[in-house]
Amino acid sequence: MAFKVAIVGATGAVGVEFMQVLERRNFPVSELRLLASKRSAGTTLKYKGKDVTVTELNEGSFAGCDLALFSAGSSVSKQYRDACTKAGCLMVDNSSAFRMEDGVPLVVPEVNPQEAAKALQKNGGKGVIANPNCVTIIALVVLAPLHREAGIKRLVAATYQASSGAGHAAMVELQEGTRAFLDNKPFTPKVIPVPYAFNLFPHNSPWLDDKGYCEEELKLLKEGHKILGDTSPRITATCVRVPILRAHSEALNVEFVKPMSVARAYEILRAAPGVRVVEDRAKNRWPMPLDVAGKDDVQVGRIRVDQSNPNTLDLWVVGDQLLKGAALNAVQCAELALLGKVAPNQS
Ligand SMILES: NC(=O)c1ccc[n+]([C@@H]2O[C@H](COP(=O)([O-])OP(=O)(O)OC[C@H]3O[C@@H](n4cnc5c(N)ncnc54)[C@H](OP(=O)(O)O)[C@@H]3O)[C@@H](O)[C@H]2O)c1
Repeated sequence: MAFKVAIVGATGAVGVEFMQVLERRNFPVSELRLLASKRSAGTTLKYKGKDVTVTELNEGSFAGCDLALFSAGSSVSKQYRDACTKAGCLMVDNSSAFRMEDGVPLVVPEVNPQEAAKALQKNGGKGVIANPNCVTIIALVVLAPLHREAGIKRLVAATYQASSGAGHAAMVELQEGTRAFLDNKPFTPKVIPVPYAFNLFPHNSPWLDDKGYCEEELKLLKEGHKILGDTSPRITATCVRVPILRAHSEALNVEFVKPMSVARAYEILRAAPGVRVVEDRAKNRWPMPLDVAGKDDVQVGRIRVDQSNPNTLDLWVVGDQLLKGAALNAVQCAELALLGKVAPNQS
């Protein structure tokens, strides 16, 4: 059994990861179509050592395709959803376009794997699986097993988000802006509207309401509830961009309904799929973006009792948002829906 696979947004930060993830996990691909805008049509990218030419996305791009992995932004996903699903092709979408739509499963395979196959049209589904927001995926891989045991009453999250979360151009801008800063040269940012190098600023997503939250911060709340199938955890977040190229970090303060000790949390997380506990007090080593970049597993450490509130733990969580926060999670969803099981993580 092998599948004809299309990657929409193949030249982007997530798109190039899709190819590597498919290759590493030996996903059975009989044909690969790399799709992007007119800008990069004609360029070539390597898959399994061979050049594959990028073509311009159009309504006919999905004819005969079994699976389309989308990561070209919400407007492209909305525009091409019908062309994709009417061709009988399963759409796994990385954008936020359909995440909160009824009937569209929002899937983190370690948390709600049973949802993935519901997307298949032959099962009466809409032919779309939504890949959750990267911060939400990384947090939930760690929090869901704890929630299952002790129930999360309240989560307070602070995020430290890498430039690649805003796409390939933002990564380049951080590098160029840092060089200009060190050389004392003027630099005008085009992607992120404020100076990025040696700076911190609220996440660059739209401000959503009159309460002062930006869109990214509310995604953790809304998507978290949908994925857990439970609206009882109270959730608040502050999302910040940091001058890091790759991998998002999250400080999570978690109050539980039932007792949860540090030892029990470590025990649960050591056994949790997709999670790696990293903790070496003697060497002062904890999960760090530079170590996590390029790794499949989400790393967690520094679990400690919050001295200021009963039955509350603090956790430090780092995950590669281009992998588990995007391409890896999407391919795992496709594995679940089309192959019925998830391949083991590589790292
Ligand atoms: N970066 C992350 O960590 C992350 C994590 C989770 C979800 N996502 C989501 O994934 C999507 C892509 O993110 P990214 O970071 O990979 O962005 P990116 O690096 O800016 O790449 C965007 C990709 O979309 C293509 N594209 C843009 N407009 C297009 C059009 N009209 N038709 C066809 N292709 C078009 C671009 O092709 P050209 O080369 O032709 O311009 C490029 O391949 C976004 O929805 C984002 O929210 C990203």
